Amino acid sequence: MVGHWKLSHWIRCWVLQFLVAGAPPPQCDYSMVEISEECPSAYNFDWQLYHEQLYFARSMVFSGDGARGSQEAVMHLLREVTRHFWFAFECPLAVASTYFSLAQSFAFQGRLRRALAFIHMGFIFVRDKGFNECTPWPVQGWDMLLAGRNLVSSIRPLDDQSVMPTMPQFRLPNQRVAIVSICAYGETEPVRIIGTENHQVYAELHGYDLYQVTEKSQIKANLASQMDINDGRHKPFFWKVNVVKNILEQTPRYDWVLWIDCDALFMDPGRTIDSVIQMYSGNNTWATKLGPRSFGEDLKMQSLRDRVQPLSPPEVSLIVATDSSGINNGVWLMRNSAWSHDFLVRWWHSDILQGPGENHNCSDQSTMQHQLLYDSSMSLDDAWDAVEAPVWVPEVRVAAQEHLQSFHAATAATVASREWQDGDFIKHHPGCHYYKPPCQQLYLEAHQIFLGKLQAMR
Ligand SMILES: *[C@@H]1O[C@H](CO)[C@@H](O)[C@H](O)[C@H]1NC(C)=O
Ligand SMILES: *[C@@H]1O[C@H](CO)[C@@H](O)[C@H](O)[C@H]1NC(C)=O
Repeated sequence: MVGHWKLSHWIRCWVLQFLVAGAPPPQCDYSMVEISEECPSAYNFDWQLYHEQLYFARSMVFSGDGARGSQEAVMHLLREVTRHFWFAFECPLAVASTYFSLAQSFAFQGRLRRALAFIHMGFIFVRDKGFNECTPWPVQGWDMLLAGRNLVSSIRPLDDQSVMPTMPQFRLPNQRVAIVSICAYGETEPVRIIGTENHQVYAELHGYDLYQVTEKSQIKANLASQMDINDGRHKPFFWKVNVVKNILEQTPRYDWVLWIDCDALFMDPGRTIDSVIQMYSGNNTWATKLGPRSFGEDLKMQSLRDRVQPLSPPEVSLIVATDSSGINNGVWLMRNSAWSHDFLVRWWHSDILQGPGENHNCSDQSTMQHQLLYDSSMSLDDAWDAVEAPVWVPEVRVAAQEHLQSFHAATAATVASREWQDGDFIKHHPGCHYYKPPCQQLYLEAHQIFLGKLQAMR
């Protein structure tokens, strides 16, 4: 494929490799990119035709049909290619650009939550092919990243309205929390030594139980849920699902579990996990733009209010952090609820891991996000969006990165997301290769900051 170049691509999901200085980038002539070559179909699907239809649907904005007509036409295309979600991986940029087109038109109408949901879903398809800046598809990696970043920062102030103000040292008496991680690296790997020590010191300080898996053999298959890490289908990223399911089934029972990757390090010894749980699950009311009830509301308004401000909304079961590009599941909090047990089973048995979707990159993150966002993002509801009611399933709360996990500088920059700053709870190093000395140095520095703060507390 002449003229087809990538500015950069994703490695282990997160780190973009920039062109090495010196060599000038090849010229971009995307008319040389043959879609039938880029996306050959094993299912007789005509991606070239889809390409024409997508441009046509987008251009309807300028014809008599207007934004609404265009949106419906693009939505129709998206339904067609994502109905069997695994199939959409056959032509990742086609789907990413369809999602991006929708995000643009919803943002244009001021429906920011819906627009962000589409950006986040679209990023699932960027992870396989990288950010293309030279592409016949109507999306540029840079534009998509900026859209994600701007939408996240527009929505944050709204979400903050339902965050319960909580002291960092808050403890709920009798609430049982377990910290769970897998550090199954070689015994002398710095990531394992530093990660396990950091988690141990933090857990001991607050009296949280800690489960550290250091060997694959410690993960027992969960027969009732048909989870078995040796099934040959689930990559190591999925082991956490099996492990957390097992721990949630234990007696005595835990109320919450904090999942933390081995390369995610506690940074603020003074903050409890309880405080984060309280902030993001203490107020069940959804943050929306629908104001308080006023006298003499019409029936339409009342029925919207009944849906958007239900008397007893479901309790929060899952607290995740998203960055500009979607969920990062290196750190999350899960309540021991019926919903959570069911969710873990659906996550493990995701039906998107087949056909062209079988080996897609970051499959643990995309299957999680697909379960939490796909159906709800596709159920358009104009009255709902007009008041910016949440699009994630109601059991999910999205936390600000500083309260759950922010990133080391390189990844923060490449995903236009939050770089760890003093005061942030956890520093995560996604995309930094644990066997590389600069990454090992970063773990050490982070852990030393944590120990220094601990010293200062005492
Ligand atoms: C996943 O990403 C890597 C690195 O960017 C790439 O080499 C690989 O082909 C990708 N996998 C798939 C299934 O596209
Ligand atoms: C709970 O969240 C709602 C919606 O954002 C907000 O209006 C309300 O003030 C919050 N309540 C408390 C106690 O923070």
